[in-house]
Amino acid sequence: MARVGAQPENLLERIAFRANLGPWPVVTSMFAPPAGRVLQVAARVGVFGELARGPVTAAQLADRLELREPGAKLLLDALAASEIVHERGGRYELERRARRWLDPDSDTSVLGFLADNAEYWAWWSQLEDLVRDGRSVAMHDRPPDDPYWRTYIRGQFELARLSAPEVARGLKLAQGATDVVDLAGGHGWFGARLCERHPDLRATVVDLPGSVAAAREIAAAEGYADRVAYVEGDVLTGDLGGPYDLALAFNIVHHLSPDQNVELLRRARAILRPGGSVAVLDLFTRPAGKRPDSSAYLGLFFHLTSGAETYSPAELAGWLAEVGFGTPRRVRVRAIPNQTLYQATARS
Ligand SMILES: C[S@@+](CC[C@H](N)C(=O)[O-])C[C@H]1O[C@@H](n2cnc3c(N)ncnc32)[C@H](O)[C@@H]1O
Repeated sequence: MARVGAQPENLLERIAFRANLGPWPVVTSMFAPPAGRVLQVAARVGVFGELARGPVTAAQLADRLELREPGAKLLLDALAASEIVHERGGRYELERRARRWLDPDSDTSVLGFLADNAEYWAWWSQLEDLVRDGRSVAMHDRPPDDPYWRTYIRGQFELARLSAPEVARGLKLAQGATDVVDLAGGHGWFGARLCERHPDLRATVVDLPGSVAAAREIAAAEGYADRVAYVEGDVLTGDLGGPYDLALAFNIVHHLSPDQNVELLRRARAILRPGGSVAVLDLFTRPAGKRPDSSAYLGLFFHLTSGAETYSPAELAGWLAEVGFGTPRRVRVRAIPNQTLYQATARS
């Protein structure tokens, strides 16, 4: 792991922190937020694109990106503190291990996701409202022409690029399957990868208008527009079309209440052909008694941005049973930590 600017710097500091002599809560409170923000801003202003071309001085970077030099230099130093770049003789170079994720030309670049994370800053600033009064942000209620949809769906596409090959390999299709629907599928990349693997398959995405507009742009730019049909609609109330052999519900369950999830799965069940199945990819809560890990931040984030929750695999299994699916099969996905995929077949 790269440093996040929040760990002790040297042996003496480490010993002091182990012995509880240093104010470690101050270190987290003071340094963890800017460590993330520095990455997001560097992604937004184009720092990594320049660094990917070769080492630069702060003055060169400022000149090329039309930034102020003092700020550019301090931003680069902060990236060096997080071990994302290193500095030699006044020139800053991207760490080799960071290239995979931060070079815009890498197939596994997450720069768009980091740029989108900058939007989260305003939401996190409302955390106190959430814990005091239960007031959450409605992140999907923005108007369709809000530029936010572009950065949001681009970021989701980049994450999907990482896990889609494993997901496509792990999902089982009924014999002769021809249609998959991706409910709240955003960019549509999961369907596109499934179609690549199963050439007789057609993919349809149903999503909100702002998301669909952004997704069409991404699909055209990335060259998969011919493999996916996009339909504007609310998955809880709109026409889902059909029939289909497989329905995907990826990273949507955590945005919905339990009742809405039952409704979503009931609607998915209703549009499936006999022998069809539903697949749910999401973050689930850890088993009771296990100490929370970093997924606790995500649980809090989902609660903040949708008023919803993360749920347990048992809750999902209960909803599936309630609307007519069999026991879900767990499919291992390693590309994105914290995510789990379940697939359940409709009972006849
Ligand atoms: C976190 S993104 C996940 C996108 C994609 N499924 C994935 O896993 O990469 C959540 C998606 O749900 C969509 N969404 C949220 N509420 C929705 C609703 N009521 N009907 C349709 N889509 C919805 C959003 O527009 C967004 O595309």
